[in-house]
Amino acid sequence: MRLDKYLCDMGAGTRSQVKQKIRKGLVTVDGENVTRPESQVNPEQSVCVEGKLLSYMELEYYMLNKPAGCVSARTDERCQTVLNLILSKKRKDLFPVGRLDKDTEGLLLITNDGQLAHKLLSPKRHVDKTYEAKVRGRVTLEHVKRFREGLDIGEDRLTLPASLEIRSSGEISEVRVTVQEGKYHQIKRMFHAVGCEVLYLKRLSMGSLVLDGSLKPGEYRPLTEEELAGLQKG
Ligand code: URA
Repeated sequence: MRLDKYLCDMGAGTRSQVKQKIRKGLVTVDGENVTRPESQVNPEQSVCVEGKLLSYMELEYYMLNKPAGCVSARTDERCQTVLNLILSKKRKDLFPVGRLDKDTEGLLLITNDGQLAHKLLSPKRHVDKTYEAKVRGRVTLEHVKRFREGLDIGEDRLTLPASLEIRSSGEISEVRVTVQEGKYHQIKRMFHAVGCEVLYLKRLSMGSLVLDGSLKPGEYRPLTEEELAGLQKG
C-alpha cells in the first residue's frame, strides 16, 4: 500500500497533510527516513510519524449502544454521527453495518470489514434482528398472527414472517419483535400496518451478536473474539 494512504487510514492526517509530513522527512519506515508519499509499505513494517510509532490495525469491530439523536452515517453536516462516538478508532474507513433511525437506540456494529457487513446485510441471508419496542395501541394475539403471516407495508411483497412477543398490552404496549429483513423504517411500518404507532425502539441483537447490557446509550466496546467468530460463522 502507498505510504500516504496507509498514514491516512491510520488517522495521521488528511492526504495532503500526510504528504507534507512525508516530504518534510517526518516519517520513517523500519527506522529509515522515507520522503516519497508513493513509497510502498506493508503492515509488518514499523512506521513512525514525528517519532511516534503507529500500530497498524487492518480491521476494527465495535459494538455501539446507539443513543437516540445521532445518525447512522459516516458524516453529517448537522448531526452527531455514530462514528463521532467511536473515539478510540484507529482507522478512517469505519462505517455502521446497516442503519438505525435517528430516534432508535441500541445495537450497532461499527467496522471496516466490508465482507462481514455484506454477509450481515444481504437480503438473501435473512439475518434475524430483534427489537424492543413501545407502541401506542393494544397489541393482541391477532397482531402476533399477522406479523407471522406477513404484512403489507407498501412493498411489492408482504414482509417475511416475523415473531412478535407481547410483554405488556394496554393503551401503550411493550413488545419484542424479530424480523429477518432490514427495510427502511421496517418496524415502524409494520406496526403502522396494524394500526399502532412506535413510540420507542431499541435493537437488542443482530444475528448472534447481542447488545451488551452494561453499555449505556452512547457507549461502545470492541467485539470479543467469540462475538466476532460467531458473526463470521453465522
Ligand atoms: N425499523 C425501524 O422502523 N427503525 C429502525 O431504526 C430499525 C428498524
